[in-house]
Amino acid sequence: MLPKLIKYLLKEAPQSQDTEVHGWVRTKRDTKNLIFIEVYDGSCFDGIQCTFDRSAGLNGKTEALLDSLTTGASVKIKGKLISSPACGQAVEVAASELFVFGEAPAETIGDIQGYPLQKKRHSLEFLREIAHLRPRTNTFGAVARLRSRLAFAVHRYFIERDFHYLHTPIITSGDCEGAGAMFSVSTPDPKEFFGKKTFLTVSGQLEAETYAAAISRVYTFGPTFRAENSNTARHLAEFWMVEPEAAFAGLEENMELAEDFLKYMFNSVLEECPDELAFFDEYVEKGIIENLKNVAAAKFSHITYTDAVKELEKAHSANKGLFEFEPRWGCDLQSEHEKFLTEKTAGGPVIVTDYPKEIKAFYMKLNDDGKTVRAMDVLVPRLGEIIGGSQREDDLNKLMARMAEMNIEPQDYWWYLDLRRYGSVPHSGFGLGFERLIQYVCGMANIRDVIPFPRAAGQAEF
Ligand code: 4AD
Ligand code: MG
Repeated sequence: MLPKLIKYLLKEAPQSQDTEVHGWVRTKRDTKNLIFIEVYDGSCFDGIQCTFDRSAGLNGKTEALLDSLTTGASVKIKGKLISSPACGQAVEVAASELFVFGEAPAETIGDIQGYPLQKKRHSLEFLREIAHLRPRTNTFGAVARLRSRLAFAVHRYFIERDFHYLHTPIITSGDCEGAGAMFSVSTPDPKEFFGKKTFLTVSGQLEAETYAAAISRVYTFGPTFRAENSNTARHLAEFWMVEPEAAFAGLEENMELAEDFLKYMFNSVLEECPDELAFFDEYVEKGIIENLKNVAAAKFSHITYTDAVKELEKAHSANKGLFEFEPRWGCDLQSEHEKFLTEKTAGGPVIVTDYPKEIKAFYMKLNDDGKTVRAMDVLVPRLGEIIGGSQREDDLNKLMARMAEMNIEPQDYWWYLDLRRYGSVPHSGFGLGFERLIQYVCGMANIRDVIPFPRAAGQAEF
């Protein structure tokens, strides 16, 4: 049987029952007769205090182990669960026996570094260099627990709404976003193996469309890869994306789904991770709980790209120093523009729609104006784009024309075009950057701190 986790021990009624604690030593405090050891196991923030009383007579082995015990060592402690005389904790363990699984020497000896996580605050930059040990800190333990709950909530949300979880391939031959930022897959003889060039996927969307055109509603949730060399706090080379795709859905339904889904995510963490959020609120981003509650309750703003650019131009002509990049119709919104739209224009999340076709992917449905496409980006304060999506072009001829304009070979996408040849339907979907969602709900400023093992330009250790 697996041992009882500390989060459950801390809630048990103390009746001097026999108890075993398994975990790692956070601190050791020694007085004349009493030795206090705080043990944690990452199941929650708090550790449990285990108190050894020398005057009660400890066995020789335990005495010796206690003497050399240091922060970070892994232990099993036997004793009795009693109500704690100390304030700030309901229970503690009147400990009698100590077993050490693995030591964690504090001192550097020769080439072997002393245990780097001592009881003080370490910088996030330093912790990134020891990504294999950082989950033992409060911050990264909390991020890991929250990430796991959120992932489960993603599945719950879609499965309960008749979206089927679809596994799309990681190795693909097509470039969904057409941004040319793909990692090649190499084999000893790539020509021989697949008979064509292959890459790591940037999105499961095109494959998701095939299943939406068959079982109506699907979603993917998996790793995606982008070789863009952007060294920012919101880009990774490997990140997780959630991509729902629904048949018989236009842009309106897509926006509704995106908003409802995001709010469901916010409410899920508010309900399921109150301790983690309280921690982030106190140490990472003040006011984050209040903000999540407000955002979950309010309607998202909507604005077309054209109107958004007008707003930005107005602000820019009133204050020339406001933006580094001049806002102009036809150009991509820069992060400073996204920031302005969320924080100043909308005062919260905003969905920007109907972008110029030139700055969006080939598959987006053309509007009647012939200039803009039925695209939507959900922007949020602090981060900018968190979701990108669109209604898809379901008209074969318009799609072929668009591909020709963009120099995309139709034969490379013959199967995708077939979806428009046989039983084509209006359909829509979007992609949520899972790490950006985590950043948004917990306030962590750098995306590398919300994924266990970040992959970015120049960074593939661990
Ligand atoms: O806007 P993007 O590129 O959209 C697509 O890939 C569509 N095929 C999605 C769809 O319609 N099914 O990416 C979607 C989201 C972005 O809004 C952003 O949150 C995240 O993925 N994202 C990244 N996250 C981390 N690192 C990167 N390099 C990212 N690139 C995109
Ligand atoms: Mg995008």
